Amino acid sequence: MTSSDFLQRLPKIELHLHIEGTLSPSLRWRLAQKNNIKLAYDSEEALAASYKTMYNHRKKKDGDILDPNGTPIPVFLDMYYGGMECLITESDFYDLAMEYFTKAASMNVRYCEPFFDIQGHTRRGVPVATVMSGLQRAREDAATKLNVKSNWTMCFLRDMSPESAMENYEAALPYRAVFHAIGLDSDEYDRPPSLFEDVFLRARKDGFKITSHCDVGQKDTHEHIHHVVTSMGGTGADRLDHGLNAAERPELIEAIKSRDLGMTLCPHAYHRRLSTEWVFSNVRKLFDAGIKITVNSDDPAYMHDMWVSENLALAQEHCPFTEKEMLQLQRNAVSICWADDAFKETFR
Ligand code: HPA
Ligand code: ZN
Repeated sequence: MTSSDFLQRLPKIELHLHIEGTLSPSLRWRLAQKNNIKLAYDSEEALAASYKTMYNHRKKKDGDILDPNGTPIPVFLDMYYGGMECLITESDFYDLAMEYFTKAASMNVRYCEPFFDIQGHTRRGVPVATVMSGLQRAREDAATKLNVKSNWTMCFLRDMSPESAMENYEAALPYRAVFHAIGLDSDEYDRPPSLFEDVFLRARKDGFKITSHCDVGQKDTHEHIHHVVTSMGGTGADRLDHGLNAAERPELIEAIKSRDLGMTLCPHAYHRRLSTEWVFSNVRKLFDAGIKITVNSDDPAYMHDMWVSENLALAQEHCPFTEKEMLQLQRNAVSICWADDAFKETFR
């Protein structure tokens, strides 16, 4: 069996994917036409080209928005939030999610826990009910028609206020059957996760799982990881999204291990801006330390169409991982995912 046969056949779980980061240029174009939204591009081809070129030329241009580490996150986020403008009606959210679930089925992804950014929609005047209804309908159809099961994680934007997070949390509570977990994403610069402690404490008390991004190479990332691992929601989050810089600090490795905390890594999201050696030696280090790392895609539409299969192939090549170790990555995903036990059993 070739390595690509092996990867294709592997039943997969994806635990770090922003549904809005799967918006393809073709769907965006179609929804923009339907909703009479004027895009900054004259044709679908020009829109598609904008997805491909944003990182290629970024470092060479003057006047780009860079964070102190020179990373392109705010630039990426502008693009990502810009894409959301075409999502207006219930069926737009349904179509967005179904396009992803269909792609997931083609990759043999059997279960996933995608994020959605509720504030990215409510701040544009889209009602919570519209978002929830479209996502829930897609979730149900994906399970019955595509055999892709899922649970949604609702993220807060950390560059918005903690008050806004709480307001959106309360507005979403009537739809609590739609999501099972709360996360934290967006621009981390000078936005420690501790700012959002009230809403995470509340969500945990209300029975939700909690998780947070600590993206790679961000300012104060070691402190942010420490907070998420040891204190978020009172006793530490239930999972850590990214957090690869933990590999640089033995005490963080130890803290993650002592809580048997799972990590959702997205190799291409780091590899597109950092050296192969740094990224994959640190992925390997966490794996060898016995931490339950998983491999995921983050925002594949905006990250060169690198979906979970391509991210797994990248990790397999550069870590490098044997087929046995690749199976261990999937076992990690089964172990750290929040599907019910009966469903988890079907993976064993
Ligand atoms: N980083 C931070 N926030 C995000 C991302 C990301 O890659 N994608 C969507 N929200
Ligand atoms: Zn992410």
